[in-house]
Amino acid sequence: MIVAGNWKMFDGPDARALRAALGDLPHVVAPPYTRLRECVDAGLTTYAQNVHWESEGAFTGEISPPMLQALGVTGAIVGHSERRQFFGETDEGVAKRTRAALAAGLNVIACVGETEAQREAGETEEVLRRQVGVLEAHPNLVIAYEPVWAIGTGKTATPEIAQDAHAFIKSLLDLPVLYGGSVKPDNAAVLLSQPAVDGALVGGASLDIDSFVAICRAGS
Ligand code: 13P
Repeated sequence: MIVAGNWKMFDGPDARALRAALGDLPHVVAPPYTRLRECVDAGLTTYAQNVHWESEGAFTGEISPPMLQALGVTGAIVGHSERRQFFGETDEGVAKRTRAALAAGLNVIACVGETEAQREAGETEEVLRRQVGVLEAHPNLVIAYEPVWAIGTGKTATPEIAQDAHAFIKSLLDLPVLYGGSVKPDNAAVLLSQPAVDGALVGGASLDIDSFVAICRAGS
């Protein structure tokens, strides 16, 4: 069971206070780049929110796997729907980032998920098949199912919707699948108790130490 906190473009909680509050609970935090070092130094399991496929080069605004590893970062989120929606990331780019990060020795959380319009049009499986189809199984790869309509909206997928989508993803690629989209302390236990739900990717609720610790506890 993995519970990962994606801080997105928020400064996030104090790293040392979070580390102390987590105790022995398994966790991952993905802070903005500017706070990676502080999180690593505090002893948190720290991932980046994205990673480039080259080691270095003329790629303004990007960060490479060895640059992250030099800081002690052990993984990266790739293909978050906000990257796809607002920054034009494609399935092919997500595949390249994932492959390079895994080859460099990073763990990867690769995100997939349909929009509300796609779900209403009955296209969920087609979208997931396309997004998952560019990835290959790897021991350090996990998928995060994040239905776009559930992100930051307070509209959580029902446990049945999550279970069905996760089971479908696993039928395509036999990997652990985390659920993301409005996971909170009061819905974490029921979501995480679904047999095909192997953890959570938490946005808003990971910015508050008490609520993130409560979700990590629900997953432990
Ligand atoms: P929220 O938990 O804020 O809905 O965000 C989910 C998410 O996008 C995590 O990557």
